[in-house]
Parts: sequence; C-alpha cells; structure tokens
Amino acid sequence: MKSVLHAISVLAIVVWGSAAQAYEQGDWILRFGAITVAPEASSQDINLPDGLVAEVDVDDDTQLGFMPVYMMTDNIAFELVAATPFEHDIEAKGKGAIKGTSLPAGSTKHLPPTLMFQYYPRGGKSGWQPYAGIGINYTVFFDEDVDDELVNLLGDLTGGDVDNADLDLGDSFGLAFQVGVDVPFYDNWAFNAAVWYMDIDTEASITAKSGGMQVDKVEFDVHIDPWVYNLGIAYRF
Ligand code: NI
Repeated sequence: MKSVLHAISVLAIVVWGSAAQAYEQGDWILRFGAITVAPEASSQDINLPDGLVAEVDVDDDTQLGFMPVYMMTDNIAFELVAATPFEHDIEAKGKGAIKGTSLPAGSTKHLPPTLMFQYYPRGGKSGWQPYAGIGINYTVFFDEDVDDELVNLLGDLTGGDVDNADLDLGDSFGLAFQVGVDVPFYDNWAFNAAVWYMDIDTEASITAKSGGMQVDKVEFDVHIDPWVYNLGIAYRF
C-alpha cells in the first residue's frame, strides 16, 4: 500500500510538473547529456605507392554535450551545441586489388560548435516540447595523428624511404538539421533526446616524410557527415 501511495504521489508530481512546463518567450533552457558523433564517412580515393588505392572510415565517439537555448518567442529559439572534444580513430580501407583489407591510419580530435535556429510547435503550451531546427556547424580538427601501421605500410611500399607521416584535416563549415524533444518529469526539469545530421566535409592531407623531409603528399576530400545524438536532461529557467 505504501508503495502504491508512493507511486501515486510520484505520478502527481509528474503531472503537476508537466502542467507547470511551458516554454515561453524569454526562457533559457539548458540541456546537457551524452552526445555521440557517429560519422557516415566516405572519402575520395587515396592513392598510395605501388598503385594501391584506399579510402577512409571514421569511428564513433561520445562526449559530454552542453546546449544552452534561448526562446526568442514562444515558438522560435536559438540553441548553441557545445561539447567536450571528440576523438575519432581513422581507418584506411583498401579498394580495388586490396579490397577487404583495412589498417589503423590515425586519429583526430575535433570540436563541432553548432548554432541551431529552432521551431517549437507546442511553445506556450504545457507538457512535452518537440522541436525541429536548421543551423550551421563549424568544425575544427586538432591533434591529428598518424598510426605506426600506416607509417610502416608506407615504408614497406617505398622500400624503407618513408619513416614518418603527418595528417592534416582542414576546418569545415556546413549545414546541420535537427529534431528533438523535451519530456518534462519534475518542476523545470525534462528528459531530452535529440538527433542532428551535420554536413562536415574536410580536406585531408597525408605528408610522407623521410628523415624529417617531405617525400610525398596526398590530398583528398573526406565527408564525415555524422549523425549526432544527445540523450540527457534539460532545465528551464
Ligand atoms: Ni558532406
């Protein structure tokens, strides 16, 4: 009986809480959660020595996301998407004669700050708050690293000529699209789930070196184009 009463009181709080939850002009909403960047990577062909051809693949990473929102009107808001730096491993996948092979090629960190312009169809009404947004993303890559496996392969393919390599990824500027929802559970608190598609394209270059001197440089475009997911909570104030 006690647990039933407890359940009823929790339900009452949830209903009361959601009744109190309406997004209105001038509100700030702070969202935070586990944000995952899951690249749908594809790249131009990377021409390796000996006529071998590869492309790149990029793995997922999850970081702490932080998203302040300002309601310009009851229905229109701006959201800034920020997060702790993501780190992704990069794999080289063989094409043509070496299709099916893959090799750790390197890694990179990045920060993808994104400004979203959002529409809240239920703005001004209490209860759940779905939203959709369009925005711009600026991604900065840093701490790019080349794995020993790729350096060794380049060394093998060049008869020991190559003993080191650098990876460089250029900044990216592109569109982002989003849908999400806040589901209130208590007072000004809500659960948040959101998904973005971000167009992140970068110009990559691998510089092969021998004794510190450049012996070769290959450049190729990479589409990272990730799906980005946030699961977390939101607080309105
Ligand atoms: Ni793209």
